[in-house]
Amino acid sequence: MKALILSGGMGTRLRPFTYSMPKQLVPVANKPILVHCLENVRDIGVRDVAVVVGDRSEAVRAVVGDGSAYGLNVTYLQQEAPLGLAHAVSIAEEFLGDDDFVMYLGDNVLAEGIAEPARSFRAGRPAAQLLLTKVADPRSYGVAEVDAEGRVTALVEKPQQPRSDLAVVGVYFFTAAVHEAVRAIKPSARGELEITDAIQYLVERGDRVVADEYAGYWKDTGSPDDLLDCNRLLLGRLGHAVDGEVDAASTVEGPVVVEAGAVVERSRLVGPLIVGAGSVVRDSELGPYTALGRDCVLDGAGIGNSIVLDGVSIQNVRGLSGSLIGRSAAVRAGEAAARRLIIGDHTQAEVAA
Ligand code: G1P
Repeated sequence: MKALILSGGMGTRLRPFTYSMPKQLVPVANKPILVHCLENVRDIGVRDVAVVVGDRSEAVRAVVGDGSAYGLNVTYLQQEAPLGLAHAVSIAEEFLGDDDFVMYLGDNVLAEGIAEPARSFRAGRPAAQLLLTKVADPRSYGVAEVDAEGRVTALVEKPQQPRSDLAVVGVYFFTAAVHEAVRAIKPSARGELEITDAIQYLVERGDRVVADEYAGYWKDTGSPDDLLDCNRLLLGRLGHAVDGEVDAASTVEGPVVVEAGAVVERSRLVGPLIVGAGSVVRDSELGPYTALGRDCVLDGAGIGNSIVLDGVSIQNVRGLSGSLIGRSAAVRAGEAAARRLIIGDHTQAEVAA
């Protein structure tokens, strides 16, 4: 089995981060989402992976390289424009050949991995196997209808009036039968070749398309709140490992990871929490549910439930929560009474009224 991992798209809801990195590289629990996804693929025994990249391909290549760091053999395929998920399959046709494959949307987090669905796909080899999960509001997803035997009978992309509460998770298993379906479909109203249309084509042709309800935690990480939610969950699984220096004047409660080379002085750490290598935390309160990247400097800071990327400095600002702070950003208490913001395009700032 091969894997096709999609790492293009605009990521407009994650601006300003996505001005400088593809959304799939935003870290949760100090690891890019795309890396969580590569690890899931490796864990089902796949070695040959094609990563479909768009505008920000250099950043993806810088992180993933040839894949060897993750036990994978990675090939890159450039998608000139975001023309749809089925379009991504079409540009990968030569790479995939006649092999079965898993298509994984690089912004999806499946915290329990994909071993169980991979096992059932390999056992039954249906033309397509979808992972579905019940959601409260399915209108922003592909929505499937499933019969009593677990066969998918209909599939609609982002319906206004969903006919079930089963959303399509962004991990799909296919045999090579899908290539014919991709060639047969036409672009949708939004101008994209939709994978849901290709699968619907298989359903109508009478091919076996099966549903597999995903029991674990799943998130399509489109927005800051999605990322924070994922961050909380994955931090909770990191365990406890203090390899950096934490002085005797600091306290540590709950599961806390302090990477080697990080320094913590006179601070209170409340897990789940990770402090990245090279970061310095002084006279601060950190956590719970906070991922602090590498080479950050926190001095007199108070921050919980947040994602802080590499190289950030926070000085004498407390009470930060629910925040996403981009690389090398500086947050500090000012001397003037006025609130001063120097923030990028499409940034969101919330200050106490
Ligand atoms: C895509 C698919 C949709 C699926 C979703 C899962 O939507 O088109 O069917 O439910 O991924 O993440 P997108 O997130 O690209 O709008």
